[in-house]
Amino acid sequence: MGAAAVLRTLYPLLKLVSVVYFFFLNLGFNIALLFWKRRVVSRPTNDLILIAATDAAAMIRNGEVQSVHFVQAYIDRMNEVDGVINAVVEDNFDNAIAKAREVDAYISGLDKTSDEFKNLTTTKPFLGVPFTTKDSVQIIGFRATAGIAAAEGNKSKMDADVVKNMFDAGAIFLALTNVPEATCWTESSNTMNGCTNNPYDSRRSVGGSSGGEGAVLGAAASVIGIGSDIGGSIRIPAMMNGVYGLKCSPNLVSLKGLYPDWNGVYHKQMLSVGPMCRYAKDLAPLLRVLCGKEVADKLKLGQKVELNKCKFFYMEGINTPLSEPVNHEVIGALRKAVKYFETKYDHPVYRVDLPKAHHAGIIFRISFTDRKAVDLFSLLTLGNGRVNPFKEIVKCGLGTSKHTMPLLLYCLMEYMPEYNKEFQEYVIQVRETLRNEIIQLLGDNGVLLFPSWSTTAPPHYKNVASYFNFFYTGLWNALRLPALVVPMGLDSNGLPLSVQLVGAPNTENLLIAAANDLEEGFNGWVPPPGH
Ligand SMILES: *[C@@H]1O[C@H](CO)[C@@H](O)[C@H](O)[C@H]1NC(C)=O
Ligand SMILES: *[C@@H]1O[C@H](CO)[C@@H](O)[C@H](O)[C@H]1NC(C)=O
Repeated sequence: MGAAAVLRTLYPLLKLVSVVYFFFLNLGFNIALLFWKRRVVSRPTNDLILIAATDAAAMIRNGEVQSVHFVQAYIDRMNEVDGVINAVVEDNFDNAIAKAREVDAYISGLDKTSDEFKNLTTTKPFLGVPFTTKDSVQIIGFRATAGIAAAEGNKSKMDADVVKNMFDAGAIFLALTNVPEATCWTESSNTMNGCTNNPYDSRRSVGGSSGGEGAVLGAAASVIGIGSDIGGSIRIPAMMNGVYGLKCSPNLVSLKGLYPDWNGVYHKQMLSVGPMCRYAKDLAPLLRVLCGKEVADKLKLGQKVELNKCKFFYMEGINTPLSEPVNHEVIGALRKAVKYFETKYDHPVYRVDLPKAHHAGIIFRISFTDRKAVDLFSLLTLGNGRVNPFKEIVKCGLGTSKHTMPLLLYCLMEYMPEYNKEFQEYVIQVRETLRNEIIQLLGDNGVLLFPSWSTTAPPHYKNVASYFNFFYTGLWNALRLPALVVPMGLDSNGLPLSVQLVGAPNTENLLIAAANDLEEGFNGWVPPPGH
């Protein structure tokens, strides 16, 4: 371990270099922002889009409002905001209106005293409510490009399992939303659809890979959505757009019908399909639909949790020179959540420091790297040859490449030699020890509060220079633990703040209960402060 000793000696110097680097990076971007026109989506004017999905479903069932009115309200809102956010890549508007009319006719023809009607709450919990998903979740007849230009024009021949479940629950598919190239980046931009902009500030990123989802939800152009997350792809967009996003424990929600397939054995442990939404009360019902009744019952989804008997802990960040130090307003939001639980339940929330968590970077890398399973070079061409990243980087500079710079840089990383077997095993051992420590700490009634990310939504392009901020989300994928991002109001720039709740495996119901509680205290999603 000679290298480790050298690193330890150099650590203070690396840390100093890091602080200076991020200081000047932010200074540069703050200056650039002064010359960059900020656009914000307008305030929602139709009250129908300010209703939680479960409440909307109840209103539709009771005949208070017709499904067609909800669907039309969201279509109008999408048309109103998409000029700013550029998030929708394919819509289903005409068909959605037709489906909504079918729902309305069905409800009005139904005997309100029948079992069929009474059972609708459980058999079709989202009957008549529109939903969106990302351009990598397959729906028959729609695109599923995952942002890969070579796949443009391809139509899906299957419905992903989660989409089938949504249809069974009566939900109406409204639109597909933008993703990064190959769904592999934290900025939702590709050469087919361009770049998606943050509804709170168009100069800023929406995150990725479920970035289009984050944007339509944050902009109130959707109320419930489906994302997927292997390193933060649900939670990063959730935190940048001020909505809820849950990465579940492994093996709860079917991955069938995601494009592309993440075939690695450990990829399947890290990857989760999960709910994204604007109202905390929709989290449990939406997850119930996505994972199915059997799993939902096992998770006790929707059952009341006595939070006063739960344990809360918090940790203020990952100490590594590679990611940016956590911004003081982000820490502030975390501390407010801590204080809230402390005051409300009248017992201390303990600050912890899990030393192994500071190795998030290497833990993620060793867990995620599986060159036998995914060949990025041929994925980007869909098997028609291999991308030459050096050539494409030059073309990208000239604006003639079908690929995006972050993915090409990512390809370059693939030339790095693999770590030797011994080191890989050592890191996996550290990972498993850390996982066990956290499970021991939390048990089945503990929640760890953690920053979602180093900053709030960064300006476009900045992620390339602060790539390793995703350690904040990626760590929990590598550890196979559930994690839920909860909005916590806006910062001094009018950007969403949030906190990340982490639990032991299969404690989704506890995390969701805590999210509902925080929504009571901090109002959850707030509309973008436009005119
Ligand atoms: C309604 O639900 C009850 C209880 O779950 C069940 O026994 C019954 O068969 C259902 N009826 C209809 C018409 O779906
Ligand atoms: C997409 O289309 C390309 C050719 O245009 C084809 O090679 C590829 O197999 C298709 N992929 C899928 C998933 O249908």
